[in-house]
Amino acid sequence: MNKDVLDILVVGGGGREHAIIRKLKESSRCGKLYCTPGNGGISRDAECFDVKADDISGVAALAKQIKADLVFVAPDDPLVAGMVDTLEKEGIAAFGPNADAAIIEGSKVFSKRLMKKYNIPTADYEVFDNPSEALSYIRRRGRYPAVIKADGLALGKGVILCEDYVEAKAAIKSIMQDRIFGASGKRVVVEEFLTGPEVSVLAFTDGKTIYPMASAKDHKRVFDGDMGPNTGGMGTISPNPHYDEKTAEYCMQNIFKPTIEAMRKEGRPFKGCLFFGLMLTPDGPKVIEYNCRFGDPETQVVLPRLKTDLIEIISAIRDERLHEISVEWTDDACACVVMASGGYPGEYRKGLKIKGLDKNGQLKGAMIFHAGTRYNEGEFFTNGGRVLGVTAKAPSLDKALARAYDSVAKISFADAHYRRDIGKGFYLK
Ligand code: AMP
Ligand code: GLY
Repeated sequence: MNKDVLDILVVGGGGREHAIIRKLKESSRCGKLYCTPGNGGISRDAECFDVKADDISGVAALAKQIKADLVFVAPDDPLVAGMVDTLEKEGIAAFGPNADAAIIEGSKVFSKRLMKKYNIPTADYEVFDNPSEALSYIRRRGRYPAVIKADGLALGKGVILCEDYVEAKAAIKSIMQDRIFGASGKRVVVEEFLTGPEVSVLAFTDGKTIYPMASAKDHKRVFDGDMGPNTGGMGTISPNPHYDEKTAEYCMQNIFKPTIEAMRKEGRPFKGCLFFGLMLTPDGPKVIEYNCRFGDPETQVVLPRLKTDLIEIISAIRDERLHEISVEWTDDACACVVMASGGYPGEYRKGLKIKGLDKNGQLKGAMIFHAGTRYNEGEFFTNGGRVLGVTAKAPSLDKALARAYDSVAKISFADAHYRRDIGKGFYLK
């Protein structure tokens, strides 16, 4: 990537990818922007194509056809399946970890064993590939809730918290025998139930140096008061009010640095964005999960706070000279309220007209990151479960939240659902 100005193809099509594209656009080194498959809002910022995000050979062919200087692979599936490896083999520069590093998200068994081997704090666990052995262990242990996790990727739904043996039995059956998550359920991790506030920390790393980004808090449940089923995320705030400097320092020394060192020692250097899902337990911070990519909707509140040129950071990561640059953040807070289709994460309608946005799908005073939208002749229509991430930045969290909610009030579509308590009551958890 010796060129100064880069034409970039972003792979993916959600709010995270829209936030990435918006940030890339701010760079003086940003040339043409492409996205596949993108969405309605992204199509106002980048030229979109209809190659699916997990179509590895299709993306490689597209990158060649449009002569992209860099492919930014954002979602977990193509990373875990080795899209970056294929692109690099074909001589196309890519941003994201190779498959042998992306396994840190792709296999919970891998990540748990890594943490145990390198003394990285996490919940105690056992691994099973036999359903009856898993169940007799759970019965013998007799402690509930029992946490059961499918080994592989499961659209963020592979974790089941079981209140008693009957629930555990049903969970083991559906994961390991009915295979509701497919081959991801061949093995399970059964682990200790942890308590405490959750924190998302994304980090830039070139495999040697690691720079944590501003912290964030996700709101995973669909209804106010953290009720209802888990979703991909109904809103985020940054910074996370629970994550103070002392905690950050502890995590740097005991979690972040040891993790990238462990990956290097295993011969799997991680280059890209590594996401730490942490729980601040009474015994100190512990890792709940690793993701091999930017989080969604964490990215929507973290990247707007980034002052340093994102393309400079990507270049430094690719060239393994991240230590040579510094990464700066604004002191502003950022809040994102997700407007979802009524019924999500279950069934919902699509194709409903969205009112209140300008012709670019934006609204003055906020950043509208599109997730499930479609563009047609100057109008936007719903096209997915999470529709828009209505985001605002301000000197304080309260102001950022007020601005985000002011904007939400100006946008409408039939059946729209959003949480009214994003960023509120965080002190209770
Ligand atoms: P994950 O997909 O691993 O992030 O898990 C989804 C959610 O399940 C997390 O955000 C936590 O709220 C919860 N969870 C996962 N593991 C545990 C655990 N060991 N103890 C308590 N809650 C957990
Ligand atoms: N918001 C959590 C994730 O991206 O997996």
